[in-house]
Amino acid sequence: MLSLKLKAILCLTLASSTLAQTSSPCNPTTNTTCSADSGLSASTYSIDFTSSSDNNTWTTTAGNVSYTSSGAEFKITKRGDSPTIQTSWYLFFGVIEVHLRAAPGTGIVSSVVLESDDLDEIDWEFLGGNSSKVETNYFGKGNTTSYDRAVYYGVDDAQSTSHNYTVEWTKEYTTWYVDGSAKRTLNYADALLGKNYPQTPMRLKLGIWAGGDSEENSAGTVEWAGGETDYSDGPFTMYVERVKVTNYNPGGSYSYRDQTGDLSSIEVSNATDANSTGGNVSEVTGTTALATGTAAAETSTGTAAAEKTVTTGAASLLSLQASSVVLSMLVILPVIFVA
Ligand SMILES: *[C@@H]1O[C@H](CO)[C@@H](O)[C@H](O)[C@H]1NC(C)=O
Ligand SMILES: *[C@@H]1O[C@H](CO)[C@@H](O)[C@H](O)[C@H]1NC(C)=O
Ligand SMILES: *[C@@H]1O[C@H](CO)[C@@H](O)[C@H](O)[C@H]1NC(C)=O
Ligand SMILES: *[C@@H]1O[C@H](CO)[C@@H](O)[C@H](O)[C@H]1NC(C)=O
Ligand SMILES: *[C@@H]1O[C@H](CO)[C@@H](O)[C@H](O)[C@H]1NC(C)=O
Ligand SMILES: *[C@@H]1O[C@H](CO)[C@@H](O)[C@H](O)[C@H]1NC(C)=O
Ligand SMILES: *[C@@H]1O[C@H](CO)[C@@H](O)[C@H](O)[C@H]1NC(C)=O
Ligand SMILES: *[C@@H]1O[C@H](CO)[C@@H](O)[C@H](O)[C@H]1NC(C)=O
Ligand SMILES: *[C@@H]1O[C@H](CO)[C@@H](O)[C@H](O)[C@H]1NC(C)=O
Repeated sequence: MLSLKLKAILCLTLASSTLAQTSSPCNPTTNTTCSADSGLSASTYSIDFTSSSDNNTWTTTAGNVSYTSSGAEFKITKRGDSPTIQTSWYLFFGVIEVHLRAAPGTGIVSSVVLESDDLDEIDWEFLGGNSSKVETNYFGKGNTTSYDRAVYYGVDDAQSTSHNYTVEWTKEYTTWYVDGSAKRTLNYADALLGKNYPQTPMRLKLGIWAGGDSEENSAGTVEWAGGETDYSDGPFTMYVERVKVTNYNPGGSYSYRDQTGDLSSIEVSNATDANSTGGNVSEVTGTTALATGTAAAETSTGTAAAEKTVTTGAASLLSLQASSVVLSMLVILPVIFVA
C-alpha cells in the first residue's frame, strides 16, 4: 500500500509535469512512420576529449560545450544553462565507458544517459551537493510508475577525481561498474520480466542541468537534486575526459519492425559484425548470465524502521531540457514508500 505521503507527492509530481517533458524525436511505439536510427558500423569508438573533439559524432543539443586539456567542459554559470551533447549514432547493446569529474554545486545534476526513441533509458547521475555518491537508474519504454529503480553507490570524491563509469548493456543483463568494480547488475527478467528492460537502440547523452532551480523545477525535483541551487556559488563544471564504446551490434541503421518496443522487433540493417553473445536479437532468454547481482546495494538514504526511502524515477533527466513533447513526466524525486 502506498502511503498518503507518497500519494501527495505523486500529485505534486503530476501537477508540475508539464514543466518537464521527456522527448523523443519520434516514438516508434506510438508512431509507425519514424525513420530508422543511424548506427555505428565500427565495433569500437573512442574519444579523448582532453586532446581532441569530434563534432561528427557529438551533436550539441543545448548550450555550449568547450573542449580543453581538462576534457569536454559542461559549465553552468546562470539560470537556464544546461549544456548537453549526444552521439549522432545509436548503439544496440555494448559497453559504454565514461571517465569524468562531476560538477559541484547544490542541486546541480551531472548526467550520463543512454536513451532510445521509445524512452528506454540507462543512467548515471551525480548530485553536486554530494561528491561521495553516484546514482544508477534505468527505465523501460518511458514507464515511470516504479519507485525503486534508482540505486546510489559510494564514490571516492566524484568531483575532484576522475573515475571510470562503465555500463555493459546486453540483451540479458546490464551491469554498472565504477573503476572496474561491478556495483549493480540488472537482469532482463528482473525488470518486470523484461517489459521494463532497456532493449532498443540508444544514444549516449552527456549533460548537466540545475535540478535545484526552483523557478524551473518542481519542489520534488529540487528536493531530489539536493536543494536550491545558488548560482553565485558557480560556475559549476562537469569535465568528461574520455569515452569509449564497444559496439555489440555494429550496423548501418536500426529500425523498429513493429510497435512493441521489444528487442526482437529491432532490425539491424547493413550489420557489419553481429555478436551473437551480446546482441543476437532472435535469442532472448532473460536468464542470468554473468550477472550475479551485486545489486543489493545501498538504496538511497535514511531507512526508518518500517519505511524505506527510495527514489522514484521518471524519464530522462537530460530530456528535461529538450523540447518536443511525447510524454510529460517528471524526474526523480525522493518519496517515502511503505514497504
Ligand atoms: C509521427 O512522426 C512523424 C515524423 O516524425 C511526424 O511528422 C508525425 O506527426 C508523427 N505522428 C504522430 C501521430 O505522432
Ligand atoms: C567542435 O565544436 C566546438 C564548438 O562547439 C569547437 O570548439 C571545436 O573546435 C570543434 N572541433 C573540431 C574538431 O572542429
Ligand atoms: C555559445 O557561445 C557563443 C560564443 O561564446 C555565444 O555567442 C552563444 O550565445 C552561446 N550559446 C549558448 C546557447 O549559450
Ligand atoms: C553523501 O552521501 C553519503 C552516502 O549516501 C552520505 O553518507 C553522506 O552523509 C552524504 N554527504 C552529504 C554532505 O550529504
Ligand atoms: C510499469 O512498471 C510497473 C512496475 O514497475 C508495472 O507494474 C506496470 O505494469 C508497468 N506498466 C506497463 C505499461 O508496462
Ligand atoms: C573501466 O572499467 C571497465 C569495466 O570494469 C574496464 O573494462 C575498463 O578496462 C576500465 N578502463 C580503464 C581505462 O581502466
Ligand atoms: C545499406 O548500405 C548501402 C550501401 O552503403 C546503402 O545504400 C543503404 O542505404 C544501407 N541501408 C540501410 C537501411 O542503412
Ligand atoms: C542468432 O541466434 C539464432 C538462434 O539461436 C541462431 O540460429 C543464429 O545463427 C544466431 N545469429 C548469429 C549472428 O549469431
Ligand atoms: C560480444 O559480446 C560479448 C558480451 O556479451 C563480449 O564479451 C565480446 O567481447 C563481444 N565480442 C565482440 C567482438 O565485440
